[in-house]
Parts: sequence; C-alpha cells; structure tokens
Amino acid sequence: MKYLFANWKMYLSHKEAVALSAQYFGLPFDEHCLRVAVFPSMLSFLDVSKNLKQSAIARGVQNVAYTPRGAYTGAVSAELAAEAGARYALVGHSERRYIFGEDNEAIHKKVAAVIATGMTAILCIGDTSEDLANDKADYRVKKQLMRALEGTTIPEGKLIVAYEPVWAIHNSGDAHACEPDKANAMHQLIKEELTQYSDAPVPVIYGGSVTAKNMLSYMACSDIDGVLVGSASTTFDGFKDMMTIAADC
Ligand code: PGA
Repeated sequence: MKYLFANWKMYLSHKEAVALSAQYFGLPFDEHCLRVAVFPSMLSFLDVSKNLKQSAIARGVQNVAYTPRGAYTGAVSAELAAEAGARYALVGHSERRYIFGEDNEAIHKKVAAVIATGMTAILCIGDTSEDLANDKADYRVKKQLMRALEGTTIPEGKLIVAYEPVWAIHNSGDAHACEPDKANAMHQLIKEELTQYSDAPVPVIYGGSVTAKNMLSYMACSDIDGVLVGSASTTFDGFKDMMTIAADC
C-alpha cells in the first residue's frame, strides 16, 4: 500500500479549498494499492468533505485538541474531527511544534486521543537544521518517537509516521528536499525503532519539498511508503501529476 497525503496547511482561502476539492473529486486511482487523503483547514473541512463524499479520497485534519468535549475555547477535539468524518489526523507537525510551541507531552496525548476515536494518527517527526549540524538527527527522531508513543497501545492500522526533516519543508527558510537515499536510511531507522512500540508494521511516509518532479525518487525507495505533500498539493495540475505517478508505484 502506498500513501499520497495532501496537507493544505493554511495556503488556501475557504473558497479556493472548496473549488480545489471539487477538482480533486474526479481524479481516478486504485484504492486497493493507493490511499489518498486531503487535509484542509478546520474551517473548510465540512465543505471539502461534501465535495469528496462520493470519492475514495479520504479527509483528515491538520491538528486536534487532546482535551475532551468541554470548556476549551478555540479547541477542536479528536472526537469532533472523527464525528465530522475525518479518517486521519496529523499530530506533531513541525509547524505545530516550532511555531505554536507544542511539546512532546501534548503530542503524546494527541496520539492517544486520535487513536481512541478510531481515526489513524499521522505522527510527524523530524530533525531540525541544528540537529543535523550537531549530528543529532537520529537522536531527535528516536526521542520524538519515544515521547509520543511510549505507553500507548497502537491498534493495527491506526498509526502512520511521517518523517519530515524541518530543514526540508517548503517555506522554512532555506528549504531543500532531503536526498532520497538519506530519507530512506532514516525511514529504516524509524521502522526499526517502531518495532518497540507496535507489533504490526507501521507505514512511514516522507514529507519535505515533495513535488511531481521529485516524487518518484522517494516512492521508489524500499522503506518509503508514500509522501505527505504541502505546497505542491495546493494546485490542481501539480496534484494530478502526483496522482498519476503514485498510481504507477
Ligand atoms: P512541503 O510541506 O511539501 O510544502 O514542504 C510538507 C509538510 O510540511 O507536510
């Protein structure tokens, strides 16, 4: 099984998100070998979902609150996201960690909250440029995995890990995509680590400056199960090309 996930972040207006989802709707793919999901903003989630209801393209949310229903101004719980039809939830995206100050403890609670609803958590981990310069990339991803997953029961199919080196994410300053062989080596390390937390295999996908041009070089790697695409997923032509490439993998 391969994965093609489109994280629209906050790139699109509501109108643009709804219009793009209507275009996505008609894209054909074989759902037995490819899972496709789109992650619109919380505000656009329901209207985007309406457009994709009859399609095999699943929907996910970019973040959840770990708190249950109650007095939590501004929060949207995992439970509410699941009720609205989300199949996936991103947890611990580096923009949440480093711009909004989310710590490992919150990420641990979010993974558990997402899994408790029956959704699949997509746990995002990745080294910063500082980690890389200090030879701490392996240390960082192992620590993020441990802090997010230790003590959590992970039912089969309810966890995906996204390896997204922070320095490779588009718009993070001097972003440049990670070399596919380096990404693959990190995926191998992540998969080895994951055996401590899950009996079932956990898919590991790559994110960071993926485009239709470089996507195949990642999808062809032995331990890269798919891609999480940000900016390049927000234009129809770019995404259509990526669907065609992913469908052939
Ligand atoms: P990018 O973002 O494809 O724009 O680099 C990927 C992500 O942050 O999920």
